[in-house]
Amino acid sequence: MTTFKIQPLARFAGASTSIRRPREITHFSYDDDRKLYPLSDRSLQYYYPPFIDAPGEPGHGRPPIDLSNGFETFKKHDDSIDEHLDSLLETLMAHEQEEGQRVKSDVVTWRGIMTKIMTAPFDLFNEFELNATCFQGTVFIEENHASKAADIKSQRDNSRSHNRGGPSQEMMQYWGYKFESLALLSKPWAEATREEIENRDAKPVDSEAQYCSIVTTGIGGTSMILGGEVDAVMGAKPDNPNDPIPWVELKTAQQPVTQKDDVKYERKLLKFWAQSFLLGVPKIIVGFRSPDGHLLKLMEHETQKIPSMVKRQGQGTWDGNTCINFAAAMLDFIKSTVQGDGVWRIQRRQKDGFIEAFQVDGVDPKSIVTPAFRAHREQI
Ligand code: A3P
Ligand code: MG
Ligand code: MG
Repeated sequence: MTTFKIQPLARFAGASTSIRRPREITHFSYDDDRKLYPLSDRSLQYYYPPFIDAPGEPGHGRPPIDLSNGFETFKKHDDSIDEHLDSLLETLMAHEQEEGQRVKSDVVTWRGIMTKIMTAPFDLFNEFELNATCFQGTVFIEENHASKAADIKSQRDNSRSHNRGGPSQEMMQYWGYKFESLALLSKPWAEATREEIENRDAKPVDSEAQYCSIVTTGIGGTSMILGGEVDAVMGAKPDNPNDPIPWVELKTAQQPVTQKDDVKYERKLLKFWAQSFLLGVPKIIVGFRSPDGHLLKLMEHETQKIPSMVKRQGQGTWDGNTCINFAAAMLDFIKSTVQGDGVWRIQRRQKDGFIEAFQVDGVDPKSIVTPAFRAHREQI
């Protein structure tokens, strides 16, 4: 077993190491039955402001929006199914076949996994349990699904005992998706009818459909292929594929009232920032809500300005450069540890000041990198 110390953080402070701007190389969609469409943008959504009754908003004067509306018909994705890296690899394979060449990278993983790694220095409750394997010099990293399922269950049990009488964890999760459906259109503005725009509150909410962007990016000496969901585009994707895409990330958060709430929100901003930074999402739109789930107002953040805002005007609960430098060092650690055949477990337990890596038996490397993807990479 090898360990990587998180503390002391001072060794990651200072200017940030080099970063490669994330560029979308390809993408895929899941439809509302979770059917995968590699290379398709059929589930791409377009941002159009929700109608909130607040001064200056397009919905000023309208009745308040209850984010609980339609909870009974929520079509929720079943996260007890282990999806591994399958859709990412299937799409990458289709893309490489189309291009006739492979996309080189040191690491292939989901954006959500990199978010957990990046935020580890400042998020004491952050836990992860990953499986990693090396194939042809590239490290593929997935979540160990058994631990993820246990994690979801314990979060649920926890919130049941803490939230007696208050909204359930399921309801609060629904609010996030409901906000998305109030703020999105399935067509560009110009093609959407007034009816579609006006009737978004009546639309059933589902968390099965997704548009996922696959990007190449890099932190320090490590190049990566990352896949992750993007909520929407502002306007449209640019014609020139080299131009940055005006992506929008939507979030909900309880409207901060007290100073304690401000600190809580600042900690949330760490996750919002890291998640969006990794895919190159330039804008985050937060729907502030009341404790009982009424939408109160919108707040826009430019992703790249969040770290300096937290440092200058906030309580300084986290530092973006430290996260980037930590991630670079962590990736070096992973590359030097995960070599040859076999599967490594990379884990961080709550409040631990270190990350552990050790080889595990009983996890088939082919469950991480599929036989079809291996065969494809052996040929191209
Ligand atoms: P909010 O975070 O806005 O409340 P995302 O913001 O990543 O697009 O995810 C959309 C919604 O999925 C979230 O809305 C939240 O309701 C739910 N969600 C995302 N990640 C989650 C997690 N780790 N645990 C529980 N719910 C999550
Ligand atoms: Mg999303
Ligand atoms: Mg979102």
